Amino acid sequence: MIADRGIQHDEPPIFERGAPGRSGASLPACDVPRVSAAELFGPLARKSAAALPEVSEPEAFRHFVRLSQLNYCIDTQMYPLGSCTMKYNPKINEWAARQPELAGLHPLTPDALAQGSLEVMWRLMRMLCEITGLDECALSPAAGAQGELTGLMVIRAYHRAQGRSPRKVLIPESAHGTNPATCTLCGLEAVKIPKSDDGLVHPDEVRRAIEREQPGDICALMITNPNTLGLFETHLPEICKLVHDAGGLVYGDGANTNAIMGKVRPGDLGMDVVHINLHKTFTTPHGGGGPGAGPICFVKKLAPFQPVPVLVREGESFRFDYERPQSLGRVRAFQGNFGMFIRAYTYIREMGGEGLSRASSLAVLNARYLWSQLKDSFDVASDRPCMHEVVLSDETLEKTTGVKTLDVAKRLLDHGFHAPTVYFPLVVKGALMIEPTETETRQTLDEFAAAMKSIAAEAKTDPERVKTAPHLTRVGRLDEARAARKPRLRWTSGQ
Ligand SMILES: Cc1ncc(COP(=O)(O)O)c(C=O)c1O
Repeated sequence: MIADRGIQHDEPPIFERGAPGRSGASLPACDVPRVSAAELFGPLARKSAAALPEVSEPEAFRHFVRLSQLNYCIDTQMYPLGSCTMKYNPKINEWAARQPELAGLHPLTPDALAQGSLEVMWRLMRMLCEITGLDECALSPAAGAQGELTGLMVIRAYHRAQGRSPRKVLIPESAHGTNPATCTLCGLEAVKIPKSDDGLVHPDEVRRAIEREQPGDICALMITNPNTLGLFETHLPEICKLVHDAGGLVYGDGANTNAIMGKVRPGDLGMDVVHINLHKTFTTPHGGGGPGAGPICFVKKLAPFQPVPVLVREGESFRFDYERPQSLGRVRAFQGNFGMFIRAYTYIREMGGEGLSRASSLAVLNARYLWSQLKDSFDVASDRPCMHEVVLSDETLEKTTGVKTLDVAKRLLDHGFHAPTVYFPLVVKGALMIEPTETETRQTLDEFAAAMKSIAAEAKTDPERVKTAPHLTRVGRLDEARAARKPRLRWTSGQ
């Protein structure tokens, strides 16, 4: 499928539309004495009028609708961004989150007047504990990375309470970049566990890594399951035991829970703390820096160190508890992103246990379907059956045609698809990471696979066409480094 080519509008900044004196409003004649800005605001008055756009109502309206149409989003097409779980956000979540009693609730409302909302949060916490197989939950971290930081701070506080300060955090080479970043931010030291040939973490490697450190200096292992190659870590119970025997705790990066909900629980595998990305697994919208939620679930012995406030149930009522002397403190204003909790709660209630388990089955099935469709046209990072995402490599493609992963990603835009994640994980040469999720149909997957295969074929017959893509989008290939390093975020006249 080639991208739709209906009428597309170039849209300049609104400041470049309109004309002096044009207005989108018709107000009645002024029937009170006019007052100047200087009289009204004194020294705070502007020296000259603000340079605001002067546009008619249709101009203003069309401007913003056209801008909205420039946006590629999950509501318009598949979004195969690997590691991000860009699944469809059910609209019933939005309905629930917009209920005035919930959306209008002030975060400083006394607990006694917000019992219903507190109960929803408490129920969500219990659901997440059930899904992860862990004892307690803290909802407030605002994203996966903040969940990681909170979890590692909880682990650090636990060790300190035992009178120890171990510093080393074992992190497999295939970890998400936020794992070593979190470790460094926490003032701890990341120790790399090298990637094995089959893409999994092996107990022998963990044992060797532990033995290389001073006895008693292992703070934790941070491990992602399924890992960033889309593979299920099959040795977890043994690995967790090794870490525990060395005095460390196991942090599970649960951002990929979409592959395992209702199938296996991190707590049952031996993990002590896990974060979950509600904005991935539990369908709260994400992307573009919007509000996320990265709650953590953990074993009971870590409960005294969790962030405040702690939501507790007393009989039939709920309240926030601030009296936690060993708590690491607050990690987020108020109680976290409440609107995200409502959406996730709605989704889990709508799906039920069976539904969540089926969603995971379908997420894995869809990824394996793409794996089987693409493995003859591209190198695959692993011969093992993948879980929820497929990782390709451009090794042979580049050698034989000169076409790289970035070129494939750009050419996909001409076929009407958002590009998958590129060059991650770092351990795969020219990685292209595709996560279809369970919400895509067989037809869409076939269209996507056909687009990928046609790009692989085109790379052989007309590599230049692929290397200079995109050709059908509103703008061509951008200088992405410049866009990131020198962004122009403000309009100034005469630019
Ligand atoms: C495996 C993994 N860990 C951690 C994160 C970080 O989550 P966030 O982007 O919410 O900070 C992500 C993000 O997608 C992820 O895929």
